Amino acid sequence: MLDNIITNCIRYTPDRGEIAWNTVIDHNEVIFEIHDTGPGFTLSNKEQLFKKFYREDTSRTSGHGNLGLGLYIAHSTVKNHGGSITADNKETGGALFKIVFPVGKK
Ligand SMILES: Nc1ncnc2c1ncn2[C@@H]1O[C@H](COP(=O)(O)OP(=O)(O)O)[C@@H](O)[C@H]1O
Ligand SMILES: [Mg+2]
Repeated sequence: MLDNIITNCIRYTPDRGEIAWNTVIDHNEVIFEIHDTGPGFTLSNKEQLFKKFYREDTSRTSGHGNLGLGLYIAHSTVKNHGGSITADNKETGGALFKIVFPVGKK
């Protein structure tokens, strides 16, 4: 799941850009916030990004491993662990992913 998200960030962030991964551990949640300084998303409904085979701009990348399955698989993986994943544009630009997992006893 993280491999796909970070690989996307590397792919979409230009040279000299930045990719950050913050981890926050709260009482019963672990939160990963991953953002980059790439172009972010043009889509208004960001939930679309997690649909099977969805790709925002097919001209932006081509070749191997760009089938639009990565975020779909990441979303399924997170769901199977009882967590949630959202995508948004950061105010300062770039993509921002937030992944929340429940931890510890219920
Ligand atoms: N970090 C990112 N910055 C900008 N766009 C992104 C980023 N990550 C994903 N996307 C967009 O979401 C689409 C779906 O991502 P993904 O499911 O991993 O497919 P793929 O990487 O095979 O294109 C990508 O085609 C791209 O348009
Ligand atoms: Mg991908």
